[in-house]
Amino acid sequence: MLYIFKNYDELSCKAASIVSSQVILKPNSVLGLATGATPLGMYQKLKKIYEKGIVDFSNVVTFNIDEYLDLDYKNPNSYHYYMYNNFFNYINIQQENINFPPQVNGKVGDLYQEYDKRIEDKGGIDLQILGIGINGHIGFNEPNQELITCTHITKLSEDTINVNNGFFSRKDEMPNRAISLGIGSIIKAKNILLLASGKSKANIIAKIFNNKITTSNPSSFLKLHPNITTILDEDAAKFVS
Ligand code: GLP
Repeated sequence: MLYIFKNYDELSCKAASIVSSQVILKPNSVLGLATGATPLGMYQKLKKIYEKGIVDFSNVVTFNIDEYLDLDYKNPNSYHYYMYNNFFNYINIQQENINFPPQVNGKVGDLYQEYDKRIEDKGGIDLQILGIGINGHIGFNEPNQELITCTHITKLSEDTINVNNGFFSRKDEMPNRAISLGIGSIIKAKNILLLASGKSKANIIAKIFNNKITTSNPSSFLKLHPNITTILDEDAAKFVS
């Protein structure tokens, strides 16, 4: 399903209505959450829907898709900080139902697979919210010759460092590694909600729709998913025919 809206506000309304419908229909939903600028409007609208008493998050379980490695959770650029300050602090989610990738220097195949197992034990992700990087990264699965299927440590690409270090007060403060759900973990979600806004995303969004799959564009693997809803604004949809 593809929705194209005039602007970011309308995109955010639609995204919030899809997430709240999911939670109303299944109060113990498992949500996969993303950070970044794109879902901010959606979180703001969800807060308002919650304040009106329309949706109850008390039984919802969340799994965040990624987090920087070696960054204090209190740092305003950490995804922990983002989630609590933009969403969790304003809704009735239970602390024990909030999950982030483990911040440990483990190896692929041990500690990180525990995160994937935790997701499976909760019955799998019902709805995975995704943004997209200008280079096609999903979570922090960066373009590469090989992609890792499960949760893992990833080295950030030049493109990502250039885009994201604008948010840090000092450029050298930005970690160059992160922990991310793998492409396999993401694809296992029952439903995916992909959001993209603005001209900078137009090229990469067009590539998702060109029917080719390549590890140099991790988002291209989303084409394999049977249940993906894409919500774009007109700028991001510019080259989608
Ligand atoms: C970030 C995050 C992703 C996010 C993407 C797009 O670096 N790791 O989870 O979806 O890049 O971010 P934005 O929405 O700010 O463009």
